[in-house]
Amino acid sequence: MKRVRKAIIPAAGLGTRFLPATKTVPKEMLPIIDRPTLLYIVEEAVRAGIEDIVLIAGRNKEAIEDFFDCSYELQDKLAKDGKHETVEMLIKIQNMANIISIRQKQAIGLGHAVLCGRPIVGDEPCAVLLGDEIMISGPQQQTVTETLAKSYVATGLSTVAIMEVPENEVSKYGIVGGTMQGDGRLRIQAVVEKPAPTQAPSRWALPGRYVFSAEIFQYLEKTKPGKNGEIQLTDAMVEVAKAHGLLGAPLLARRYDAGDKFGYLQANIEMGLEHPEVAPRLREYLKGLLQRI
Ligand code: G1P
Repeated sequence: MKRVRKAIIPAAGLGTRFLPATKTVPKEMLPIIDRPTLLYIVEEAVRAGIEDIVLIAGRNKEAIEDFFDCSYELQDKLAKDGKHETVEMLIKIQNMANIISIRQKQAIGLGHAVLCGRPIVGDEPCAVLLGDEIMISGPQQQTVTETLAKSYVATGLSTVAIMEVPENEVSKYGIVGGTMQGDGRLRIQAVVEKPAPTQAPSRWALPGRYVFSAEIFQYLEKTKPGKNGEIQLTDAMVEVAKAHGLLGAPLLARRYDAGDKFGYLQANIEMGLEHPEVAPRLREYLKGLLQRI
């Protein structure tokens, strides 16, 4: 099986859940402490061996491209001030991967966004990482994308991350149903986008990490607008499951929905508690705060 070298990160959404901040700042650039959300996602992909990252961007997303570019004046000033560690950190980010940006001219669904990456991905397998879902794995642990890529290489089958959600949350996600195999992976037979609890095939939800064989594009091309009038990735996944087989790997990482106000706050607090610079003060502050509320 071909190694997974390419990833698509859809980042063309309008970020309406974060207005007014996202009127001018792309939601992917909102920081968790001092690093934009997108950097966590790109790092996860790079740790999985991804070399080319196809960013599906919309209007007003130039800040994302600039972030992975060289900022000569800034680096020059920092170097003159003797801040070599900061310069190195910036250079590391700029050399992290090949960032290739493609415009999605209309926001007509996640499936369409992924299809926009086809000219770059071609006939290779590819990972898809949603730009507002942060997955944190331990330093010794595989990243979620790495687990999916390994499953693809070992089985030849597209593999997606799955996580169990409570019944009252199934309508927020794509939900899959199938049979659990002896190896701990779900053989997926059904995929339904944001079902009502009574229509859900299970409580296994899609948290936004996927590895697909190149066939996904041929199904996306034929996918008609579905739920909410959008071209849904989940509808193409139904066809992949039927024609080739599709696996679900349960999520082992910590996950934050940074596209949601509460999830964003959670990520900032929990990661703040691990950040060497702010952790001690934040811990004391939270302890004091708890006594007051
Ligand atoms: C998208 C997908 C959905 C998935 C979710 C994860 O929905 O369509 O299948 O479960 O991401 O966040 P969205 O949240 O963009 O509406």
